[in-house]
Amino acid sequence: MEQNKLQELLLDMSLKEKVGQLVQVSGFYFEEEGVLTGPENTVGFTQEEIDLAGTVLGSIGAERLRMIQKKFMERHPHHIPLIFMLDIINGYRTVFPIPLAQSCSFDPALAKRCASIAAKEAAAAGAHVTFSPMVDVARDARWGRVMESGGEDPFLNGCFARACVEGYQGKKGADGSADLAAKGKIGSCVKHFAAYGAPEAGREYNTVELSERTLRDTYLPPYREAVDAGASMVMASFNTLNRVPSAANKRLMREILRKEMGFGGVTISDWAAFDELMYHGLAGNRKEAAYLAVEAGMDIDMMTSCYSKNLEQLVREGCVDEALLDEAVMRVLELKNALGLFENPFKDADELEEKEILLCDEHRKAARCAAAETFVLLKNEGILPLKREGQKVAFIGPHVENKSIFGVWSMFGREEDTVSIADALRQRGIQTITAKGCAMFDNGRGLEGESGLDIDQMDEKAQRLLEEAVEAAESADAVVLALGEHRLLSGEAASRAQITIPECQRRLLLAVQEVNPNVVVVLFSGRPLDIRELSERAKAVLNVWQPGTEGGNAILDVLYGDTNPSGKLSMSFPWCVGQVPVCYSELSTGRPYMPGRIYKFQSQYLDIPNRPLYPFGFGMSYTDFYISEAVASDSVMTRKKPITVSVTVKNTGNVKGAEVVQLYIRDCVASVARPVRELKGFQKVWLEPGEEREVSFSVTEEMLRFTGADMEYASENGRFCAYVGNSSETQNEVRFELKN
Ligand code: BGC
Repeated sequence: MEQNKLQELLLDMSLKEKVGQLVQVSGFYFEEEGVLTGPENTVGFTQEEIDLAGTVLGSIGAERLRMIQKKFMERHPHHIPLIFMLDIINGYRTVFPIPLAQSCSFDPALAKRCASIAAKEAAAAGAHVTFSPMVDVARDARWGRVMESGGEDPFLNGCFARACVEGYQGKKGADGSADLAAKGKIGSCVKHFAAYGAPEAGREYNTVELSERTLRDTYLPPYREAVDAGASMVMASFNTLNRVPSAANKRLMREILRKEMGFGGVTISDWAAFDELMYHGLAGNRKEAAYLAVEAGMDIDMMTSCYSKNLEQLVREGCVDEALLDEAVMRVLELKNALGLFENPFKDADELEEKEILLCDEHRKAARCAAAETFVLLKNEGILPLKREGQKVAFIGPHVENKSIFGVWSMFGREEDTVSIADALRQRGIQTITAKGCAMFDNGRGLEGESGLDIDQMDEKAQRLLEEAVEAAESADAVVLALGEHRLLSGEAASRAQITIPECQRRLLLAVQEVNPNVVVVLFSGRPLDIRELSERAKAVLNVWQPGTEGGNAILDVLYGDTNPSGKLSMSFPWCVGQVPVCYSELSTGRPYMPGRIYKFQSQYLDIPNRPLYPFGFGMSYTDFYISEAVASDSVMTRKKPITVSVTVKNTGNVKGAEVVQLYIRDCVASVARPVRELKGFQKVWLEPGEEREVSFSVTEEMLRFTGADMEYASENGRFCAYVGNSSETQNEVRFELKN
């Protein structure tokens, strides 16, 4: 539709209708006939409010959505179509590894592929917009939602943010916008703006207090990347940021997001966040909440009646300028237009195609490759890869048969479609012994038939499982122990104060290792865990996160060496929980810790090292890589003349593999304290045995910018160190200077 037609439409709409465009209702409100149902109507919408709604949350399925849209449009006074939005996070029916895992691939193209397949499947099932990617920088492993983020680093998060947006929406065209109406594309809503990933003490929904500089230099960059990549929508976060909840944060939403970042798309609150303005103590009632939100620049109200019951009155009373409302409504109409819904309200919803492409071979194959690329080999004392012949391996642990391995946000992934480790063993015809060994959770949760058992019976059952496991371990040459977090232990509202594996699984590890020292742990997790003891006891540790639909196949691919692991940690594994938040790019202190120096008055712990157990950027391979000394093309760079920093990387082992060459930079002297190093570039190179390649990074002035003492975002002349290597701990250093 032409822009002037949209304008005409807006002019013709009643105030009530306009407000309706800003109201998002749950798909549960639409029964077969598309009418309001009783019990689900917890928000208190009237039938009229539902009939005028602008967008729908959480409904999917081509047939259902076509039906809802048709009935809805027939009743709507201007026949304005709904937008169907929902959370397609790491895949729709074909489930990919969780986002945290995807970022460990250090391969944004992988995330783009996953997002594009997810978009294709979801679009065929009728979806128009996904609430993804989440790009909240996350440094505290206690927080359950680290699984949805790209980890601890702003640059890496930014690369994945861009990749996901482009995967869902397609790349921006010459006119700066993506073709959302194109087949198989959906709108992307980046979230949660801003700094939701920094809740105090890692506790979900908790307060965020950040200096302006930290906000700008560490937390905002990934959102900016997503906005630059053309994200259609931005979701405001639940948290307060320096005492103001985002949904009422005018400075954040209007000044920073719209003016500074130039975001012209639609904003939406998080689930019921307008109501939460009352709990935060900013609004005394829903009317005040609606006022604060609309003034702050919030377009869509997700799942409260704040807007639907109050906005019209606020305008009529003159408290809210109708022009403000019109702007918000126009943005929603423009998004509908960009999605092509005025011409084709059903977009790609197609039952036949849904049947054809959901979980098709091509998508499964992509999921299998993606999963294997996200695994991080944390330790390997020569036991991996396993031998196909002449080695008897027992597969033990509660995750061997577990099919619920797709991450907690995967509402549409189904166990029956998922390949567990045991399924993959069976499919390959690998004759082996398997044993469950223990429950998935402590207190017997996860034991079959647990509900009918009393405590003694559960103890007895647990003992029996353990004995079976020990027997299996004794009879084998090596044991693969599949341990770790169940998907329900991470995600939203899943903060944990103890980030170890469940105690019952720990007991299993101890018992098995006592009878068979050749233990390989395949570790499932939604966050970095405290695995000190586990990694001491195991001969190898392969972290597989929540690997998705093809998880079992990908795990065997890596265990048996068909695929060489190449993942690197996008978030440090702490030494213990007392160390979190721990991050490689910390600031230097006035008393920096010097490894090896025995001196009390330096920044350190008395009882644990400063170093995390496994640092950011670390991950092993089945081959070895040699990285040559870093060389700079010049020792001086200027604002106009960048330099190049290069190394040669060589595969010195016997199998093909990938190394992630990482560039870190330290600003040695500046007007404010600067991080000890920051990731500024990375390249993943696949090399055959004996093959070598030069890897070069251009170091530009732009990469050296930060928020200085005067709050200007600029670079400062002076000394810098560049480090190039295969983890954040590399000491392969070359110095240079920035001059005018
Ligand atoms: C989550 C969001 C999500 C929304 C809609 C909220 O609880 O915080 O990330 O997009 O629900 O499902």
